[in-house]
Amino acid sequence: MRIGVLTSGGDAPGMNAAIRAVVRRAIYAGAEVVGVRRGYAGLISGELIPLDVSSVADIVHRGGTMLLTARSPAFMQPEGVAAAAAQASGLTALVVIGGDGTIRGAQALEQAGVATVAVPATIDNDIARTIRTIGFDTAVNSVVQAVDRIRDTATAHERTFVVEVMGRRRGFIALHAGLAVGAESILIPEEPVDLDAVCDRLTRGYARGKRHSIILVAEGASSGFEVAEAIQRRTGHETRTTVLGHVQRGGSPTAYDRVLAARLGEGAVAHVLAGGRGAMMAFRGGDVAPVPYGDVLSGEPSLDRRLFELAAVLAI
Ligand code: F6P
Repeated sequence: MRIGVLTSGGDAPGMNAAIRAVVRRAIYAGAEVVGVRRGYAGLISGELIPLDVSSVADIVHRGGTMLLTARSPAFMQPEGVAAAAAQASGLTALVVIGGDGTIRGAQALEQAGVATVAVPATIDNDIARTIRTIGFDTAVNSVVQAVDRIRDTATAHERTFVVEVMGRRRGFIALHAGLAVGAESILIPEEPVDLDAVCDRLTRGYARGKRHSIILVAEGASSGFEVAEAIQRRTGHETRTTVLGHVQRGGSPTAYDRVLAARLGEGAVAHVLAGGRGAMMAFRGGDVAPVPYGDVLSGEPSLDRRLFELAAVLAI
């Protein structure tokens, strides 16, 4: 048995821990393991390297990905998929680690005859049928640390801060981090943006003696700069903007993300060993289970609306 592993798309903290789990579980079962560098781009150009137990030593705590990653325009074309499938022909199965673009890629490879299993890893948590993706917990904790610092200077200067966070078209990072830092308002793409309500809450807060206000904006909902400009214009209150950007993608993965990566990576190899393919390993109900790509890609990532309501109640 020869199992391949690659990481693709935006990196996420915990990808290394997932690679380690795949490699060691496969070797434990007596399989040979091959790493593909630079995601699907590297598969097309045949960047395959043998991996052994020591290749994945000392990476469990590191952010980024030892296999490197890429977004590959060539792989979006049928010729690219065919070239990648040809390179993968010697593999019993390929485990791909990444977000929804990566899962779409795995589906395309399946259609070209390559056995694949996917492990969901993206800071955005925007994958259907799984409660969590690898990297989300670390990103949320990074946002919380940054906002706790911003709060110090916001209080010292009695300012309002708008903090823009990542998340692509979804508001998971903004919602979870906003709840964790006690943000006054959280703007996410899943809910209508109501700047009147944001400004009312700010004005009420300052009237009762608040010294600072923090507004979290998901990049998919609005631009942090535009929101700050509108708030300052409407309330007259001094407002600053911080765009956290790629700070959210780096750093040592949290224990939660490492454990999740170990479970999903192990689950992917176990699925291959059981003859499974064409599925993403999902984490839900406390268990790891395969979900067919079609169900993942046609589903909606489920943001818990109750958390949004809770955040609003607690920011009264
Ligand atoms: O999908 C992860 C993510 O960090 C998103 O939150 C963000 O919108 C995007 O990737 C940024 O992509 P890039 O690193 O290519 O600028």
